[in-house]
Amino acid sequence: MEAMDATQRCYYHHLLFLSLALLFLMDLTKAQRPGFLSLDCGGKDNFTDELGLWWTPDTQMLSGGTANISVANENRTQYKTLRYFPADNRKYCYMLNVISRTRYLLRASFLYGNFDSNNVYPKFDISLGPTHWATVVISDAGSIEYQELIFLATEPAVSVCLSNATTGQPFISTLELRQFNGSIYMTQNENEFFLSVSARINFGADSDAPIRYPYDPFDRIWESDTVRKANYLVDVAAGTEKVSTQKPIDVSSGEMPPEKVMQTAVVGRNGSLTYRLNLDGFPGFGWAFSYFAEIEDLAPTATRKFRLVLPGNPDLSKAIVNIQENAQGKYRLYEPGFYNLSLPFVLSFKFGKTSDSTMGPLLNAMEINKYLKKSDGSLDGQLVAGIISAYSTADWAQEGGDPCLPTTWSWIQCNTDPQPKITSIKLSRKNLTGSIPSELTKLSGLVELWLDGNSFSGTIPDFSGCPNLKTIHLEDNQLIGGLPTSLTSLSNLRELYVQNNKLSGTVPSNLLNKGLILNYTGNIGLHKGGSAGNHKKIIIGSSVGATALLLATIISCLLMHKGKKNYANRDQHEHGLPGQRVVSKLGDAASEVAHYFPLSELEDATRNFERKVGSGGFGVVYYGKLKEGKEIAVKVLTNNSFQGKREFSNEVALLSRIHHRNLVEFLGYCQEEGKSVLVYEFMHNGTLKEHLYGPVMHERRISWIKRLEIAEDAAKGIEYLHTGCIPSIIHRDLKTSNILLDKNMRAKVSDFGLSKLAIDGASHVSSIVRGTVGYLDPEYYISQQLTDKSDVYSFGVILLELISGQEAISNESFGVNCRNIVQWAKLHIESGDIQGIIDPTLHKEYDIQSMWKIAEKALMCVQPHGSMRPSISEVIKDIQDALSIERGAEAIREGSSDEISRQSLHSSLNLGGSLDLGSTEHYLSIDDSIAQPTAR
Ligand SMILES: *[C@@H]1O[C@H](CO)[C@@H](O)[C@H](O)[C@H]1NC(C)=O
Ligand SMILES: *[C@@H]1O[C@H](CO)[C@@H](O)[C@H](O)[C@H]1NC(C)=O
Ligand SMILES: *[C@@H]1O[C@H](CO)[C@@H](O)[C@H](O)[C@H]1NC(C)=O
Ligand SMILES: *[C@@H]1O[C@H](CO)[C@@H](O)[C@H](O)[C@H]1NC(C)=O
Ligand SMILES: *[C@@H]1O[C@H](CO)[C@@H](O)[C@H](O)[C@H]1NC(C)=O
Ligand SMILES: *[C@@H]1O[C@H](CO)[C@@H](O)[C@H](O)[C@H]1NC(C)=O
Repeated sequence: MEAMDATQRCYYHHLLFLSLALLFLMDLTKAQRPGFLSLDCGGKDNFTDELGLWWTPDTQMLSGGTANISVANENRTQYKTLRYFPADNRKYCYMLNVISRTRYLLRASFLYGNFDSNNVYPKFDISLGPTHWATVVISDAGSIEYQELIFLATEPAVSVCLSNATTGQPFISTLELRQFNGSIYMTQNENEFFLSVSARINFGADSDAPIRYPYDPFDRIWESDTVRKANYLVDVAAGTEKVSTQKPIDVSSGEMPPEKVMQTAVVGRNGSLTYRLNLDGFPGFGWAFSYFAEIEDLAPTATRKFRLVLPGNPDLSKAIVNIQENAQGKYRLYEPGFYNLSLPFVLSFKFGKTSDSTMGPLLNAMEINKYLKKSDGSLDGQLVAGIISAYSTADWAQEGGDPCLPTTWSWIQCNTDPQPKITSIKLSRKNLTGSIPSELTKLSGLVELWLDGNSFSGTIPDFSGCPNLKTIHLEDNQLIGGLPTSLTSLSNLRELYVQNNKLSGTVPSNLLNKGLILNYTGNIGLHKGGSAGNHKKIIIGSSVGATALLLATIISCLLMHKGKKNYANRDQHEHGLPGQRVVSKLGDAASEVAHYFPLSELEDATRNFERKVGSGGFGVVYYGKLKEGKEIAVKVLTNNSFQGKREFSNEVALLSRIHHRNLVEFLGYCQEEGKSVLVYEFMHNGTLKEHLYGPVMHERRISWIKRLEIAEDAAKGIEYLHTGCIPSIIHRDLKTSNILLDKNMRAKVSDFGLSKLAIDGASHVSSIVRGTVGYLDPEYYISQQLTDKSDVYSFGVILLELISGQEAISNESFGVNCRNIVQWAKLHIESGDIQGIIDPTLHKEYDIQSMWKIAEKALMCVQPHGSMRPSISEVIKDIQDALSIERGAEAIREGSSDEISRQSLHSSLNLGGSLDLGSTEHYLSIDDSIAQPTAR
């Protein structure tokens, strides 16, 4: 009966807790932006501030005092009050409810305002759980000190604690939580590190005021680059100019900097931008991103290309930023950065233009965060949590945070290990009832235990799990049963106090040795062994023992039951509270940065995978159209073509970071029902391969100039993979079927970043060396050493295909004993017979000089040794030279007929508009008609 009641009560408690939690959550969503919590420390009333943020007083905090302050030029309500704490050795913690597996920005702010009339600027510590977050140093009574942290919640609550005053008293003005969605702040070692915010700067700001909510939906504070210049931003280079625009900026996702931040920038008119920043918390390892958007109207011939220069980091200067190309247009965001970079306290950096750029660099915003190592917390944290959960209303159970770190609770002592253990527990005279918590018997480092003066009932538990116990105080309780013989196994036991309980039976003789102080007076039924009446007592003892045993069984069932409930409760927390982000299929890396398409949405979009538009080593590609009309290519990866979920999700995370106008845009992914799916923009004109050899070839032959443009586009995409990304990306599987053409016949490279996923695609040579026969770098094949020059080899093969219109491998085309385009072309070119390899369908519509330029470059690309091959950037230069030769030649060809030049003007005007597949055909047929007359 007892047991049933207790269980039901317990269950009822959980229900009550859950419904309270629900109410609380719903209230929050009604009253304020979901996922926002703004605590006005020391405040009295709820209020909405000028920004529209809803503030609540910190009435949950029972410790400390509150004070009113008044500071010049600060009239915000939340800064008129604060809460302060005694300067003792305790910590004072705020418990904040969060949603597990969700990322948050946590901000604490401190405005001293001489609240204690001491004019002694306080210095104290703030921690998040067991992790020391920062030492707060007040250096001005009238300015606000901020500390910000980005963290991934792993439990349903976090504690923020103030402690350890060096001078003055710890105090706090506000505590703010801002929930992110998926988040650009995902990092690889999120379980080991927090990101501590060091700098978040809006460059070219038009006032000193920071930009935050509601412009920034996550209420990040983007500091103006004009404030605190003296010690924050100094050394602004000569020629640095502010620029701004009113035009909308496509920031692509809500977690990128807000539009208003991106609408201003600084430009280095003299060719460079240099800055020196003080980075709070550094030196150390940091996360650093720059944000760019082209907001100036550049002349058609102008280019803006620049590099980052960090002293001592020459490698970082390799990547070239070309904002318009990287962002795929003007007024669009590009966000290159580093996930892990060693940075000094005083960071000097420079953006310098490249020698071939006509414009100096531009910078809109920047963010730098420091990796802060998380503390694992004390080893006994879970056990203690179990103990205090039974007394959750008692004040000693409210201290919050970790029992040992960074300072201990008032009733606990710990050893000094990095992952400390509890050595002492003092819960004397706390009015505790029930049986002695079993968790206490599992504290393996425990030396002293004080439970005297409470109302504990039940028996003395088995303490053999605490072999170091030296002192046990159990006196003045209601304990029953005997002194367990397990006490005799505690070899370090020196003092045992059990007087004034209801113990009975005999004292085990081993406890009566000289070394042990044992006080068992005041227990009517408890006697030394060996006296008269022994027999009777043993019987009583045993029946008491049996009762105790029964009781113990009931208790242990209860505990088990309760444990289960707790577990179920936690489960529910993680999976199903309303308003909570649905934990995605992959859960980790991918879901945080890439868009997730539910399988059902893709089934609708593709009409159940109706129209197949391609297939390759990685799987089959289907055409799809989303509800809002956007056309997509849906690539269903071949079973087993990726090495497991984790690998897949890492690749997806990587893919979503790569942006360039000459790379096929990755839109998202799906992994359900055993299907792994990648979603890309749809490329209307299919693959280059189809245009060179496929059935479409006969109707739509591509001119030489178009082929050169395609080569330039593709090479630029590859150049970005090689030089625009750090670490650089090697494609590994370049071929004409991986070069896709959009509506306007502009080329984009596809399947980048996927090669690592494949175990064994159909076209691959072996499971270790990957690539396609005919395109595969022989040096890589032999050495298995992959370099960017392997891509250059494959690109050389593609150039040869563009010249000849022949496939890379053919059994018929290249004569006896030759299957390979490289051998065949080399033989011809080296003997001066270039005509012998030129695609006959070009009908001599090309300039022979431009043809030679490409042919020679192609041969360089397919040199047997990587070191002899040019870089892709050098190849681009030659393609551009060939293009300008060809354009000049074409102008002359066109000049031979006025009528034709008018037609070609017409066609190029047409090109500017939005073209569908049909008008592309139109364009191509006009192109044909241009070609015809000169051929005559
Ligand atoms: C503040 O608002 C909450 C709910 O939104 C309410 O429960 C609480 O009583 C209010 N506090 C004050 C001081 O008005
Ligand atoms: C702060 O000011 C409020 C009125 O604005 C007053 O009710 C409160 O008692 C003051 N608190 C202290 C600690 O002076
Ligand atoms: C606070 O001060 C600012 C300017 O100093 C002013 O615009 C604003 O109206 C003031 N707000 C209140 C609540 O007094
Ligand atoms: C508290 O501060 C003192 C003095 O700064 C320092 O020696 C001690 O290690 C700090 N304690 C903790 C737990 O951080
Ligand atoms: C001890 O607990 C009982 C019942 O829970 C309560 O009535 C009593 O007031 C408490 N005594 C103290 C000193 O807290
Ligand atoms: C044992 O405990 C009783 C009651 O607290 C006390 O009066 C007595 O002095 C203690 N005896 C010893 C030897 O400590």
